[in-house]
Amino acid sequence: MATRGHSEGITMSGGGLYSLATIGAKHVIDAATPMVLDAIASLSSESIADGFTLSDMGTADAGTSLTMVASAIEAVRARAPQTPISIVYSDQPANDFNALIANVYGLGPFETYLDRSEQVYPLVSGTTFYKQILPNATVDIGFSATAMHWLSSKVCNISNHVQAVGAAGEELEKFRAQAASDWRQILLHRAAELKPGGKLVLINFGCDEQGRYLGNTGGVNMFDNFNRIWRSFLEQDRITHAEYENMTLPQYYNTLEEFSAPLTDPDEAVYRAGLRLDHIETRVVKCPFAEAFAEHGDAERFAESYIPTIRSWNESIFFNGLSDRRSPAERQQIIEDYYATYRDMVRDSPAGHGMDYVHAYMVISKITV
Ligand SMILES: C[S@@+](CC[C@H](N)C(=O)[O-])C[C@H]1O[C@@H](n2cnc3c(N)ncnc32)[C@H](O)[C@@H]1O
Repeated sequence: MATRGHSEGITMSGGGLYSLATIGAKHVIDAATPMVLDAIASLSSESIADGFTLSDMGTADAGTSLTMVASAIEAVRARAPQTPISIVYSDQPANDFNALIANVYGLGPFETYLDRSEQVYPLVSGTTFYKQILPNATVDIGFSATAMHWLSSKVCNISNHVQAVGAAGEELEKFRAQAASDWRQILLHRAAELKPGGKLVLINFGCDEQGRYLGNTGGVNMFDNFNRIWRSFLEQDRITHAEYENMTLPQYYNTLEEFSAPLTDPDEAVYRAGLRLDHIETRVVKCPFAEAFAEHGDAERFAESYIPTIRSWNESIFFNGLSDRRSPAERQQIIEDYYATYRDMVRDSPAGHGMDYVHAYMVISKITV
């Protein structure tokens, strides 16, 4: 809801499942780690002498960024052996912060970085990135991966699809306008938080120069497939028309131009607030489940491993799209049937399925204006 500013109704899988199901998201963060290390190398010695703060926004259960954070801590330690290091993890209030704590403190399936270095302080915040998370001029490195495509609100239902990639006309325009306003809001808050000379490394889902986006890199278009199955449920009277339309993902994939505009146009408030675009590029990270299938060739195994990664981020939207006049058990059964249909489809005809990640990788500096 716009008033609360967080992305209403969306939650990743809890209980630590998120990071286990989304190894691809970890590959994306690992690939971005050199950018974080370069950004740390560029900070002035004075600015990190009394403390260093890294903010990981939209972190989910923090499992996918543990390796990156460990490398960042080592890089800071090499430059400032005594400086206190704060790692601030933030996500929406409904996030599973217990899973996050378990992962960061080594109670989950991952190795923690905490035993390796003194004076490292993990901190947790339930503040949305649509608000200021930390005090003015306190952040050295602001990081976020695979999170800022979630809009602050669902601006309207999409009448013929489940995601803005399939929207047209007035509906598409509403999504585009909301995304433009949200992106500027995110950046203005970050401009306030960053120390002068601080950097943002933002890895955001987007639409690349060839029109590719998540799950649409040449094979089966994943979002069209979501829609096809949801529509078949409508046609079979499993769901109502209102429920069909209500399942609209509050997301938008910016193009490079849309990402860059507020950072390069001197008339933009973000530019005037001192943020400058140092670097932007797009990269495709292959779907690890499709890649594994190319090796093992077992369609059943592919289907069983691939569907949970999709489920980890969109189940809550499908569930919340269903009428609350249905019992929770009935809603859950529809969701189970939905993913079972998708799984069977992949098992029976696996060619072209997969969720390749398409991101814009951005490095942004805060200058003194
Ligand atoms: C796909 S997960 C990415 C998690 C992790 N950063 C990664 O790359 O693996 C997206 C995360 O963004 C969070 N998120 C969505 N909207 C948000 C908001 N407005 N403020 C903070 N976090 C948000 C979700 O709750 C979720 O944990």
